[in-house]
Amino acid sequence: MKSPPIRSKDRFLVFGAPAIEEAEIEEVVASMRSGWLGTGPKVARFENDFKGYKGADHAVAVNSCTAALHLSILSAGIQPGDEVITTPMTFCATVNAIIHAGAVPVLADVDPVTMNINPEEVKLKVTPKTRAILPVHFAGRSCDMDPICEIAKRHQLRLIEDCAHAVETEYKGRKAGTFGDFGCFSFYVTKNIVTGEGGMVLAHREEDAARIKVLALHGMSKDAWKRFGDEGYKHYFVVECGFKYNMMDVQAAIGIHQLSRVEAYWRRRQEIWNRYNEAFADLPIGLPADPEPDTRHAHHLYTILVDPVKTGISRDAFLDSMTIQNIGVGVHYLSIPEHPYYQQKFDWKPEDYPNAMRIGRQTVSLPLSARMNSQDVADVIAAVQKVVGK
Ligand SMILES: Cc1ncc(COP(=O)(O)O)c(C=O)c1O
Repeated sequence: MKSPPIRSKDRFLVFGAPAIEEAEIEEVVASMRSGWLGTGPKVARFENDFKGYKGADHAVAVNSCTAALHLSILSAGIQPGDEVITTPMTFCATVNAIIHAGAVPVLADVDPVTMNINPEEVKLKVTPKTRAILPVHFAGRSCDMDPICEIAKRHQLRLIEDCAHAVETEYKGRKAGTFGDFGCFSFYVTKNIVTGEGGMVLAHREEDAARIKVLALHGMSKDAWKRFGDEGYKHYFVVECGFKYNMMDVQAAIGIHQLSRVEAYWRRRQEIWNRYNEAFADLPIGLPADPEPDTRHAHHLYTILVDPVKTGISRDAFLDSMTIQNIGVGVHYLSIPEHPYYQQKFDWKPEDYPNAMRIGRQTVSLPLSARMNSQDVADVIAAVQKVVGK
């Protein structure tokens, strides 16, 4: 039998490479030529377009999802020493944002199948100091929002959704990021739509959105956003000690066009997702669970589980063999308690969150990007089959 095609050395498939098209290139060039690089009309348009896509009340663009999370936690009124419950199966930024706000992160283990925070575990972690729940819609799969909202309501907790993977995610007809007081999005280079670096906060209440806007620009009063506009110089006043978290027009120039293709990109990723499911059905690896009925999966990450007992290869050896075959792969994520900083600061142990620990030690993310052509998809499949095929 002929062995499967192997990518040539000069064709490394970069993990999470974004699809950048002519329209955003021209829009960035137009911003450069106009001389208006900073926060301006394109940011306002991107906020408006995103708000429209999500059917949200208010949207504020910032320069990362980390900033979006940090400002949401502050605007939610979380005080130093307050506890915020989140998941161990997330990027460090989720937990760091809680710490930056002076609050105490508390982890609730994930469901072994959905890999999302388990509402039953959340219930066990509520104490008199708990002020908020911060669920992450992992890989683009919606968290189980009914029980989570119910817990938040019963204990009068604020709800902040980490939607870094979840632009297109829906739960029972409602869009991710509109359940909580705040929904935080990422437009980092590997995300479903990109601005290079960038983020967005959705908020229900006008006063929350207004506070985020002030905090995102040094704590300067609202008019500061327009101080160099064509209506003449506007005085501003610093009303609190804020941050430098504003998005630039050059970033929004990319985002506006990316957002116009969000559904087309989602369909392409869904095709690739289905193709992987078919091709890997008989392999001894764990595949992502099917999306729950009445939900929409954003198909952000296609994560497989490599259990050395079943496959005869360790996860890290699997990563290496994919790299040797010129396929870029990722790990989302080693569970949060695996990292020395959190172990030292909070005395967390991976074994105390056994589901997240097992997933984190076995998981591999395969390339899943709208930029991939059918040959790229075939190459990924062939490479996986070569490593764990019968
Ligand atoms: C779950 C999650 N939360 C937060 C972030 C932070 O996003 P950003 O890089 O835009 O700050 C990421 C980014 O990878 C993420 O995956």
